[in-house]
Amino acid sequence: MRNLLVTGGAGFIGSHLVRLLVNKYPEYNIYNLDLLTYAGNLENLIDVENSSNYHFIKGDITDEAQMMSLFREKQFDAVLHLAAESHVDRSILDPMAFLKTNILGTVSLLNAAKSFWKENFEGKLFYHISTDEVFGSLGEEGFFVETTSYDPKSPYSASKASSDHFVRAYSNTYGLPVIITNCSNNYGPNQFPEKLIPLCINNIKNKKPLPVYGTGENIRDWLYVIDHAAAIDKVFHKGKIGGTYNIGGFNEWKNIDLVRTLCDVMDRYHGKEVGTSQELITFVTDRAGHDMRYAIDASKMSNELGWQPSLQFEEGIEKTVAWYMENQVWLDNITSGDYQHYYQNQYNR
Ligand code: NAD
Ligand code: TYD
Repeated sequence: MRNLLVTGGAGFIGSHLVRLLVNKYPEYNIYNLDLLTYAGNLENLIDVENSSNYHFIKGDITDEAQMMSLFREKQFDAVLHLAAESHVDRSILDPMAFLKTNILGTVSLLNAAKSFWKENFEGKLFYHISTDEVFGSLGEEGFFVETTSYDPKSPYSASKASSDHFVRAYSNTYGLPVIITNCSNNYGPNQFPEKLIPLCINNIKNKKPLPVYGTGENIRDWLYVIDHAAAIDKVFHKGKIGGTYNIGGFNEWKNIDLVRTLCDVMDRYHGKEVGTSQELITFVTDRAGHDMRYAIDASKMSNELGWQPSLQFEEGIEKTVAWYMENQVWLDNITSGDYQHYYQNQYNR
């Protein structure tokens, strides 16, 4: 039996990871620690919430005393750390919230792990889930590889870069066993509709304008979230301690082409003439400091660990649209804010 702490498990990627771990490893206790900020939604995990190896803990990673006592009480063997503030536009409005959660929160968890495990690091792992945005912005050519220098350009990416540095510093200074992965943009079911793809799906559904920043020429490398969860599982079990792995979809899209494709998939889904929803596209003021291009070279993941994305983007985007259309209650609860009452109702607190 191993006791795994997953932080941020009620969020988008975390909930897919928790589901995978709970179902695939009945011999593990999976502790999902989440503060349930606006981005945390326990409705994401309804299908596993009664599993005997799943345990939810409402908690704040920045509360070091709480983290210390949880480590003592639950005897965690490993941490899979996803809890974070994750939206670039929010980081532009309020950088301090990102500094607090992403940097202080990570260091508080590192301290708890270091203190609790210090007698014996054997079989322990602090796995930090990070982003390709720490590498900055690419021009037309080239890819981010594991050795690319850090060059973060937004308050979000600066806070994630800083947390990555702290994780490596704890490995170097105290011998803490760590792994870091840096992943490209995720998409798929359960993503909060502030991010480009679910925001557009929701707006097309409601016949609202689709805000494309600047000229829409910026490029992102998209990976289906379930493929990211599978990659995390692979790295957690087979990754080299002290190692870093880049995870990506080999799947670059200009924002404008992506939004047009999404419009067409939505039109086909609703039996409308293809092209109808594209009329909603509206070019708006560019994001401040908008990174031009992200693209991951994930060949280390494939060469060393045999991981590859399982879905083609065309299939992934169809599945994503179908999920949002079949789960309109989820979407409506998010847009109305009702999902935030779920915890109170479910846990009677
Ligand atoms: P998300 O915003 O959907 O979820 C974040 C979760 O963290 C939420 O459930 C929230 O309640 C929780 N949280 C926030 N502050 C907390 C705190 N102080 N204590 C405990 N829990 C707290 O994010 P996501 O998109 O699922 O991303 C998860 C991780 O993966 C993040 O670390 C992010 O940087 C990284 N990442 C995301 C992407 C992407 O495309 N979404 C890509 C690469 C890496
Ligand atoms: P987003 O989903 O916020 O992810 P990130 O900024 O982490 O890459 O944005 C993806 C791309 O889409 C990014 O280039 C910004 C752009 N974008 C828009 O054009 N309009 C929007 O309303 C949003 C949210 C993003």
